[in-house]
Amino acid sequence: MLNWNILSHEEAKISPDFEKTLKIYHDTLSSPDTGFFHLPQNKDLLNETKAVYEKMKHKNYFIHVGIGGSALGPDMFLKALGSKKGVEFIFVNNIDPDDLHRQLSKVKIKDALIYIVSKSGTTAETVAAMSILAGELNKAGVTEDQYQDYFVFCTDPVKGDLRKISSQWSVQTLSVPANIGGRFSVLTPVGFLPMLFAGIDVEKVLNGAAQIQKKLTDPNEGKDFFRLACWIKTLHDKGINQTVMMPYSSLLKEFSAWFVQLWAESLGKDGKGLTPIPAYGATDQHSQIQLFMEGPNDKTLFLIEVENFSQDFSLKNTISGEAFQMLSPFNLSTLMKAEFEGTLAALKENQRHVVHLKISSVNEEALGQLVLFFECLTVLIGRIIKVDPFNQPGVEGGKKYANSWLKSHS
Ligand code: PA5
Repeated sequence: MLNWNILSHEEAKISPDFEKTLKIYHDTLSSPDTGFFHLPQNKDLLNETKAVYEKMKHKNYFIHVGIGGSALGPDMFLKALGSKKGVEFIFVNNIDPDDLHRQLSKVKIKDALIYIVSKSGTTAETVAAMSILAGELNKAGVTEDQYQDYFVFCTDPVKGDLRKISSQWSVQTLSVPANIGGRFSVLTPVGFLPMLFAGIDVEKVLNGAAQIQKKLTDPNEGKDFFRLACWIKTLHDKGINQTVMMPYSSLLKEFSAWFVQLWAESLGKDGKGLTPIPAYGATDQHSQIQLFMEGPNDKTLFLIEVENFSQDFSLKNTISGEAFQMLSPFNLSTLMKAEFEGTLAALKENQRHVVHLKISSVNEEALGQLVLFFECLTVLIGRIIKVDPFNQPGVEGGKKYANSWLKSHS
């Protein structure tokens, strides 16, 4: 089970209205409007997704088209747990023509399921990729009346262009519940369909999320969680306003990318926020750790320890040289453990602000736990620093100028 431990000389300042704020937070979570928190109990979304999967499961390629919250969660699950049934995954999450060309050259388009994910149904990057992929199907001899054999959509239950096109093309269409925004949507059909194609056990993922749900609403453990948020806020008030996410696992590298979007897009507004920094160990010990250790002491670090790896390698060897012989009695996972413990101790010695999180292994349940834990923490910090964690007005400006640039150049 995921657990966490604060290692810092800074004590959390618990406001005098702790109990009142805690109640507001619990009311926020239990409100039906906080859609993401109730997902572990929503069996309909999974059943609907399974029905679509049954019809399309003969496909050998899965092209996931989406951006931001419509892509980062599914990508994170795929990179962490892998594709276990031999299906090839392609994530089209940018508008880089060279990259798209390279990715499509690996795919047999007529053997692909194209999953278009866009809550709004109007996002330019996703719309662009969908029109290119429709064109690729046409080149392969597929006509519009056959698109239902290739496309599946995932969008708002009633609104948006994608919803309209889904009826015109008779394309199977899954819903992102209206009260769940993109970056909180990985435990909906957004993430479920790619997980099913990958052979990931979605029930176990939801079970992991449910365990965290229970933990956070437990009167005592809920208080510990609230203290963690108060501690982050105490540091934030002292100018410690950067947040490093550093799992000690290559498989969780994309977990850091998922976290970065969640933290940045939810909390960075009204002149407030905490700047997220992605990292992963042990690799970044030879890169960013120098800065984290001895640079400005303005960061909170989430270090995630993986207790058990499912594979291992012996380092036993007869190569001469002290560096080789020092490692010879150990396994590769023991070296990872030593580097994790070493970094933790050194960060503490340097009075850095660390949260040590531990998961049993990189598996479905642990990922479900991590997802719900950080989604809840994000919302709680949002409530404490008084920003709305569910909107993203700041991304509109650039979009507006890009659209008017396009119009003036057409
Ligand atoms: O988290 C969010 O809400 C955003 O990052 C969106 O997911 C992203 O902008 C894509 O939007 P849409 O799903 O409407 O295409």
